[in-house]
Amino acid sequence: MKNKIYMRTESPISILAQRLKKLKNSLTNSRSLMKDEISDLNSIINMMENLEKYVDACTSSESPHLSKLNQLTMQTDWDKVFSDQKSETRLMTQMMSSKVSGQLLKMLVSISKAKTVLELGLFSGYSALAMAEGLPEDGKLISCEIDPYSVDFARKYLDSTPLGHKIQTRLGSALNLLDDLASEGEVFDFVFIDARKTEYQRYVNKLLSNNLVTKNSILCIDNVFMKGACFSEDEKQTKGSIEVKKLNTQLSSEKFFTVMLPLRDGMTIAKLR
Ligand SMILES: C[S@@+](CC[C@H](N)C(=O)[O-])C[C@H]1O[C@@H](n2cnc3c(N)ncnc32)[C@H](O)[C@@H]1O
Repeated sequence: MKNKIYMRTESPISILAQRLKKLKNSLTNSRSLMKDEISDLNSIINMMENLEKYVDACTSSESPHLSKLNQLTMQTDWDKVFSDQKSETRLMTQMMSSKVSGQLLKMLVSISKAKTVLELGLFSGYSALAMAEGLPEDGKLISCEIDPYSVDFARKYLDSTPLGHKIQTRLGSALNLLDDLASEGEVFDFVFIDARKTEYQRYVNKLLSNNLVTKNSILCIDNVFMKGACFSEDEKQTKGSIEVKKLNTQLSSEKFFTVMLPLRDGMTIAKLR
């Protein structure tokens, strides 16, 4: 089967590069651009396109197990999985964390010396495996996922790696599973939030109100830019972007120590003060 090439999660910078290219083409077609104008536009496009490639190239390589899972995820025809009614939700290759995000998560888990990690949103298991690589031998990671196909896909692969035993997968809605975890008395050193965007703020509030995290726990939240909608009024606002924006405001209050990183579609690292 011919492998399909999918685009990864769109970052504001890649969206800008695409828009600028389109603008350059229509300007070139409508009037003759000066040589200098074309060269200026090309240099802006090059800078934008090369930024993420350079960040990727200068970041450590993923492990062979991560690399294989990356390939497997990219080669899977997720549209067919959905149309064959194998998955309940429309899963997409773009959902998978990038190599750089995976390595950042692994680094954060490792340097924070976290022993217990919670993930909301497993998909094919890429970020779960990356974080598990940063855990010590007695560390554990629980990943919550609503789609049964996703859990089966990830479980099958994770169990074929030497780190599968560190990763528990739980099937259900993240909000319900957070209640279960609280009643089991679980407490997490590190939490990666990457499930339903419209529920982001409720995840954080539930983690805090149910004591699933402590003052020292680290929260890591993906897609905090929502393709630019969180900071540009010109972009289409969605229920997800409105909710993520509310969480961004909450996390920038005095109660939290927060750093928002312009990595891909935005990643926030936060802890209680
Ligand atoms: C962006 S993907 C996760 C990607 C994964 N963390 C990675 O980086 O490779 C989001 C996942 O969350 C799942 N999801 C969506 N809504 C959910 C919910 N309410 N509870 C649990 N999982 C949910 C989706 O099925 C999808 O697999």
